[in-house]
Amino acid sequence: MNSRQYCVFGNPIKQSRSPWIHQQFASQLNINIDYQARLAPEDGFADAFKSFVAAGGEGANVTAPFKEQAWQLCDSLSTTAKASGAVNTLYLERDKLCGDNTDGFGLVADLHRQQVQLIDAKILLLGAGGAARGVIPALLSENPKSLTIANRTASKAHNLQNHFSDSRILACGFDELQAGSFDVIINATSAGLAQQRPDVSSSIIGANTICYDMVYQAKPTGFMTWCHDHGASQCIDGLGMLVGQAAKSFSIWFGTMPDIDPVIEELRRLLIQGK
Ligand code: ATR
Repeated sequence: MNSRQYCVFGNPIKQSRSPWIHQQFASQLNINIDYQARLAPEDGFADAFKSFVAAGGEGANVTAPFKEQAWQLCDSLSTTAKASGAVNTLYLERDKLCGDNTDGFGLVADLHRQQVQLIDAKILLLGAGGAARGVIPALLSENPKSLTIANRTASKAHNLQNHFSDSRILACGFDELQAGSFDVIINATSAGLAQQRPDVSSSIIGANTICYDMVYQAKPTGFMTWCHDHGASQCIDGLGMLVGQAAKSFSIWFGTMPDIDPVIEELRRLLIQGK
């Protein structure tokens, strides 16, 4: 039987764990897939995707910097993709290109997995770029008490607040964050990529605060270490979110949700071993 062709588009893309993750899911469910990481030129995503489909590709994940371009390319968008302005999952339905965004699902699924209470929680989201925007619909659907978006550039946080227009959303600059602890703090900034961390006061962390960094690495991230040093009760990295968003994409393509836990465990083991 021919394998079903899927891929992830990004630039850069060499570092992507998605081919390995989707291969694990496919093995679990006895599905024959060929899932590749594909580098697209920064100004050539649409052409790269069209060539992939012309050669038999059935669907794709999309990562930085193409999530907004993928959104624009779609004929039809899920409610989440529509609201978040970004697409990370593409599939074809009766020749129409459909887009969804599973990042928020991945984040919320991982928070649930770690028994983090979101209902009535005071959530702080650091960052107001694409990564933050992509997870806001899923966070709101968990019925938090409030969702504060704080960003280094305050105007971008206000833009997001206006875009979502939900009375639970508050917006401010880092320096306007009031002392007093949040229940959950999520780092959606790209500061870590430059070995930095968002410059916020440690007064936002209390003894019951849970901190989540949407990125991951072999060791705890700088943000996690900082939160831990200032008394956070639990610090979690984004590895579970990565596997969770992939699982949701897989279920969109194949109609079955794979088992996330063994894949997270194995990926963690590989990461610690430096593989
Ligand atoms: P992404 O798609 O990863 O969200 P982005 O849209 O470029 O990328 O957004 C990057 C986010 O990280 C922004 O919120 C950015 O803050 P500014 O809007 O003020 O630029 C934030 N960010 C990047 N580097 C940062 C740093 N060193 N400290 C704090 N925030 C940072």
